[in-house]
Amino acid sequence: MKSKVCDLLGIEYPILQGGMAWVADASLAGAVSKAGGLGIIAAANAPVDVVRNEIRKVKEITDKPFGVNIMLMSPFVDEIAELVIDEKVKILTTGAGLPSKYMKD
Ligand SMILES: Cc1cc2nc3c(=O)[nH]c(=O)nc-3n(C[C@H](O)[C@H](O)[C@H](O)COP(=O)(O)O)c2cc1C
Repeated sequence: MKSKVCDLLGIEYPILQGGMAWVADASLAGAVSKAGGLGIIAAANAPVDVVRNEIRKVKEITDKPFGVNIMLMSPFVDEIAELVIDEKVKILTTGAGLPSKYMKD
């Protein structure tokens, strides 16, 4: 099963696992991405060190694409935004707010 979203995201199946706070950790996101869908780590309101650790765990599980969900009400949101750039995470979703601050007009 292929669709445009597969080509766009570089995945095999058009299945995107939702970012779910304190549920979508590296083990879930890594398993989904390894299986050909898009796994998404939920950053939730976790500190940057915790999220960095989850990102690196997914990179150990698979070299396939994965994403990070940034929870915009997190007290660490700006640090998380820097982190995903540093870690070269190519796919981002956001929740709990408008991401306009982080996007070009
Ligand atoms: C337990 C739980 C936690 C969730 N946490 C987040 C979150 O942190 N950020 C977010 O953007 N969406 C969050 N969501 C929403 C999901 O990512 C998803 O958008 C929603 O469940 C709808 O999925 P569906 O379109 O497959 O039905 C959460 C959903 C659940 C069930």
